[in-house]
Amino acid sequence: MSHILDEQARAIMRGNDRGKYTMPTEGLYPYQWNWDSAFAAFGFSTFDLGRAWVELETLFTGQWDNGMVPHIIFHEASDGYFPGPDVWATGQTPPTSGISQPPVAATFTRAIFERDPEFGRNHLKELFPKLLAWHRWFIECRNENGVIVVSHPWESGRDNAPDWDEAMANIDTSNVGEYTRNDTGHVDPHMRPNQLDYDRYMAIVYAGRDCGWDEIEITRNGPFRVADPGMTFILLRANRDLLAIAQELGEDIAEIQSWIQLIETGVQQLWNPEIRAYDSLDIRTGNFAGSTSSMSFLCWYAGINDTTALAEFDRIADAANFALPSHDPESDRFEPFRYWRGPTWGIVNTLIGMGLAEMGHTKQADKLREDTAKLIEQSGFAEYFNPIDGSPAGGMNFTWTAAIWLAWASPTLKIKGN
Ligand code: GLC
Repeated sequence: MSHILDEQARAIMRGNDRGKYTMPTEGLYPYQWNWDSAFAAFGFSTFDLGRAWVELETLFTGQWDNGMVPHIIFHEASDGYFPGPDVWATGQTPPTSGISQPPVAATFTRAIFERDPEFGRNHLKELFPKLLAWHRWFIECRNENGVIVVSHPWESGRDNAPDWDEAMANIDTSNVGEYTRNDTGHVDPHMRPNQLDYDRYMAIVYAGRDCGWDEIEITRNGPFRVADPGMTFILLRANRDLLAIAQELGEDIAEIQSWIQLIETGVQQLWNPEIRAYDSLDIRTGNFAGSTSSMSFLCWYAGINDTTALAEFDRIADAANFALPSHDPESDRFEPFRYWRGPTWGIVNTLIGMGLAEMGHTKQADKLREDTAKLIEQSGFAEYFNPIDGSPAGGMNFTWTAAIWLAWASPTLKIKGN
């Protein structure tokens, strides 16, 4: 069974491969997405190391002069997607969106390098300054006293998470006008963000476009500025991996070290004692979201051995049949099918599972891996899964689900001793 699924996963990745980058899935997401590509590279590294490096290198062809690596790169024209390059109007070549996404690339660059250091050394040298510039952009443009903020829910990678509810409710949509969404033509609308959410997403995009994507203006007056435990933990972890890369290459590490210290201290501001979890914080209002999302459990991945969070992890994992739901099933905002308001995501399980294993929380790490494998065995390579009954949701034949199967979840990895 596992061997057949390994074959299927490779076929999905090959099928979504556009030569130098991989689409998340045909139809729904026809371009290159930032963190999807980093996961794709991780998957490719299990069977085609050269292709893994190409995936990462193509991602950085979209990097802006200010260091930002955009969340979408529109390498080729495609009419099926909204909002496309003309709506973002960033003026970049290749055309890109105007916001970023969680920086998992340094972490997977390191992992891919370690598969074959000799093969990877020149690739690593090429990528290092680009990764460094991107992380520096986060510190300059998205950092508030050591916590990382997002300027749009799409930047967090978790579009409609309950974390954003309060900040989204404050978005003025009076200028949005008419537009046609394409996502609900590909996927059942009850699995997607609702219309009011979408209007607000567009209002934030238009605000960025109207100021010419000027980061100073977005920081000062942008309509959305929320500190995200997901982004914060992911950047902290990515900085640790970047530091290891710098050491490997004999580069200076002082600047990266200072970022690690800054965030290690800063992230403690996101601990919300009321929910006993790391929470999102609206910088505009100073309010916590009161939302226990799966991102809280990236603390271990970020290198913080928080044992208090373990009890909450166990409660939430036990409240679903397939861990780990993206939102607490015991909360009234939980929706098992709606995207980031409840479903289980294989990529998130991978990151949390890596962290748990590294910290020696083996029981919890194994559970995540086994539940992820069960979901894929039962429901295929779906974008995400209903955590209660395990049914598939969103797009199918999804690149990142295939990738994490190959690099992390497949039981055949155990046989190979990984
Ligand atoms: C959705 C997800 C985002 C992902 C993208 C492509 O927007 O929320 O995290 O990168 O789809 O798969």
